[in-house]
Amino acid sequence: MSTAGKAIKCKAAVLWETHKPFSIEEIEVAPPKAHEVRIKMVATGVCRSDDHVISGNFVTPLPAVLGHEGAGIVESVGEGVTSVKPGDKVIILCLPQCGECNTCLNSKNNICKEVRLSGTHLTSEGNSRITCKGKIVYQYITTGTFSEYIVIKEISVAKIDEGALLEKVCIIGCGFATGFGAAINSAKVTPGSTCAVFGLGGVGLSVIIGCKTAGAARIIGVDTNKDRFAKAKTVGATECIDPRDFEKPIQKVLFDMMNGGVDFCFEVTGNPETVETALASCHKDHGVCVIVGSIASWVQINISSQLFFSGRTLKGSVLGGWKTKDEIPKLVSDCMAKKFNLDPLITHTLTLDKVNEAIQLMKNGQCIRCVLLP
Ligand code: APR
Ligand code: ZN
Ligand code: ZN
Repeated sequence: MSTAGKAIKCKAAVLWETHKPFSIEEIEVAPPKAHEVRIKMVATGVCRSDDHVISGNFVTPLPAVLGHEGAGIVESVGEGVTSVKPGDKVIILCLPQCGECNTCLNSKNNICKEVRLSGTHLTSEGNSRITCKGKIVYQYITTGTFSEYIVIKEISVAKIDEGALLEKVCIIGCGFATGFGAAINSAKVTPGSTCAVFGLGGVGLSVIIGCKTAGAARIIGVDTNKDRFAKAKTVGATECIDPRDFEKPIQKVLFDMMNGGVDFCFEVTGNPETVETALASCHKDHGVCVIVGSIASWVQINISSQLFFSGRTLKGSVLGGWKTKDEIPKLVSDCMAKKFNLDPLITHTLTLDKVNEAIQLMKNGQCIRCVLLP
């Protein structure tokens, strides 16, 4: 029996309050309105940003269905939707691409004006399409992938190759695209260059894959957790170091190792103190440092002015600089063509009802990426 045009009752992981676990609830997902798409979720990755909401570091209205890195199959579409149809395999875009705003019309930019990274995370017309026990439940960053079904705007979803393995490519939607694109698009890593990556979680490892793909000659992984070193080498790090093993500061270590500092450096720990260290590790004349890790909006970063009495560059990067609707499906195809391998990044696969376990694995540093299957 077709579900199109009717509300769907299904399960979702709902966060009612910060600092509390998710509860698995029965929710009601309304049919999609004009320019919206209802999707049956097949797989969703758990990202640090979801935990930042739980811990209160990212502020979003609650109750909410979190999760923003997912893939699924289109169940039905609202009026005027042209880019996807029922049955299509799709990837969720936590950064939309409306194609019409100043950002979308500028080839150098990717942070579409329609993005809702803070404030009220609602779909069009100011309403979530999800309710639970008669109450509106918001959809984190207008997505909310920790659910069996979701409704999102057409600009936040892209059709992908029908042969794609959704339980694998779902992590391209945030973590992989963010790290890989930081190297390829934001830093523009050059062949034969030297790179240092601070933080070897799922995003940092994706940066390493990007540096390797761009042809970097030396890629140094830096982490205080040595358990991450073996995997970093599997994906392309040429060496790994722990700052605590040296008496001198790590920027001095990298300066000496690399004859004056690295060409490209990436901050992927999410730690504000590491930004200055990463910048100082760059070559003073031409080094480029990209901040990839997300830091709470109220945090100030302290950087010595002396670091800018030089030619260094410090850059931001959001979702790897990709124009999402156009380019994320190409990353999925590249993955299928084995241009890069996501397998080392996915260390755990659990069912959606184990979402609290997945968050705990992430907090304890026991997983790289955990994928949930609704
Ligand atoms: N120096 C070196 N490594 C550090 C430091 C430090 N001062 N502090 C933390 N780390 C390491 C941790 O040991 C861990 O291996 O950084 C790594 C971070 O990895 P994850 O916590 O798994 O995070 P990840 O999912 O990769 O995301 C990294 O990017 O998108 C953001 O919100 C995300 O801020 C987070 C960052
Ligand atoms: Zn994310
Ligand atoms: Zn736009």
